[in-house]
Amino acid sequence: MRISVFGLGYVGCVSAACLAGMGHEVIGVDVNQVKVDLVNEGRAPVVEERIGELIAEVVASGALRATGDVREAIMGSEVSLICVGTPSEPNGSLCTTYLERVTEQIGTALAERGGRQTVVFRSTMLPGTCLKLLVPILEKYAGGTAGVDFGVAVNPEFLREGTSVRDFFDPPKTVIGELDRASGDVVAALYDGLPGEVFRVPVPTAEAIKYADNAFHGLKIGFANEMGAVCQALGVDSHQVMDVFLADRKLNISPAYLRPGFAFGGSCLPKDLRSLVHAAQRADVSVPILSNVLTSNSAHLQRAVELVERTGRRRVGLFGLSFKPGTDDLRESPLVQLAETLLGKGYDLRIHDAHVSLSRLLGANREYIETRLPHLAQLLTESVDEVLEHAEVCLIGTRDPAVLSALPHGDGPVLIDLIHLPDADARRTEPGYVGLAW
Ligand SMILES: NC(=O)c1ccc[n+]([C@@H]2O[C@H](COP(=O)([O-])OP(=O)(O)OC[C@H]3O[C@@H](n4cnc5c(N)ncnc54)[C@H](O)[C@@H]3O)[C@@H](O)[C@H]2O)c1
Repeated sequence: MRISVFGLGYVGCVSAACLAGMGHEVIGVDVNQVKVDLVNEGRAPVVEERIGELIAEVVASGALRATGDVREAIMGSEVSLICVGTPSEPNGSLCTTYLERVTEQIGTALAERGGRQTVVFRSTMLPGTCLKLLVPILEKYAGGTAGVDFGVAVNPEFLREGTSVRDFFDPPKTVIGELDRASGDVVAALYDGLPGEVFRVPVPTAEAIKYADNAFHGLKIGFANEMGAVCQALGVDSHQVMDVFLADRKLNISPAYLRPGFAFGGSCLPKDLRSLVHAAQRADVSVPILSNVLTSNSAHLQRAVELVERTGRRRVGLFGLSFKPGTDDLRESPLVQLAETLLGKGYDLRIHDAHVSLSRLLGANREYIETRLPHLAQLLTESVDEVLEHAEVCLIGTRDPAVLSALPHGDGPVLIDLIHLPDADARRTEPGYVGLAW
């Protein structure tokens, strides 16, 4: 394919050289003449493992050249990869100035060019940037409709500086945010033959994936370093701890606990986080990530309260009360906290939790419920229908099949889904359905 690559920094330079190495015909574009000249001399404008040899090779073979002329690059290509910088503004917001400028320039050149060009954004940008900011610019300057007159896609890159050439040829994944199928097909064809799973998703999803990845990577490093500092202060070998931690592929290095759902609770996580943070504080070790995990959890619970408030309705049903579906353990249950908050705000509440009712019936947890939570005990009902009949708004915190099968579609109470119901994707378009964080 004939490809133009805008921005010859780390991302653009590596993408341009590697794509040329795969047999594509590539023109690199940069506003910085020094970078353009360096590439045309067969030298890399960035320091990076293997990039020097690769650029020398592909420039010598004629597969890669560079220019400062946007029009020339657009006329000589059918796909354009945008790899310009998106730095932070002083207030932390994303600077889209370079993206806007290059999009205007490409749009202007497209207005002159016949045939369908596909514009692919590789730069990291917040969800909504492509469709709400850049596509209107392209349409304005090119004078056509995205998805019809020209293609648009977002293709974030996941290469690590230092090993990016190696990562390009062996990527962890390829993500294609496609405005339309044809745009996605062009991007998929660029990487044809490379290993790794290819994900074709809506444009804003592709934009968000990059942030999920980088936020998680930062979180992982911060977590490991805080655990290291606490262990060191407590005289424990932190690397030994993390070696064993990492060996657990069921709960630790696994998809466990990584899907948006409801707040956590129970008899272990809150207690153990509190005592670990307390031990760190006593040892004068600052652990801001660990210290704020419970704060984050409370904020998530508060989101559920706000969703109820937003409905403006007073009669509330709650399905589920124990801290985890399928148990009768009410200790530090976030659903108990939610019920107590709503009661405190004067909501008229009815609660159903089959496991809690059963354990009450058997006498197992009766004392706990009746002495510790008498205000909730009197709101518990064994009937799913009774809750549904009472409620103008219903909170679903359980996967109990008896509850799921009784939930209405479309009419009836507003359904606030706290757990991402098995049919959440289908329900999202139904009136009266609200997901907690989806
Ligand atoms: N560096 C990384 O490892 C990495 C990894 C993944 C994603 N990203 C993202 O990729 C994007 C690029 O990052 P980078 O590190 O390569 O940036 P960089 O600052 O190294 O390079 C950006 C290049 O774009 C050029 N440029 C600016 N405006 C231009 C225009 N109108 N036309 C042509 N060229 C123009 C600049 O001169 C510069 O050479 C950013 O959004 C970044 O967040 C970077």
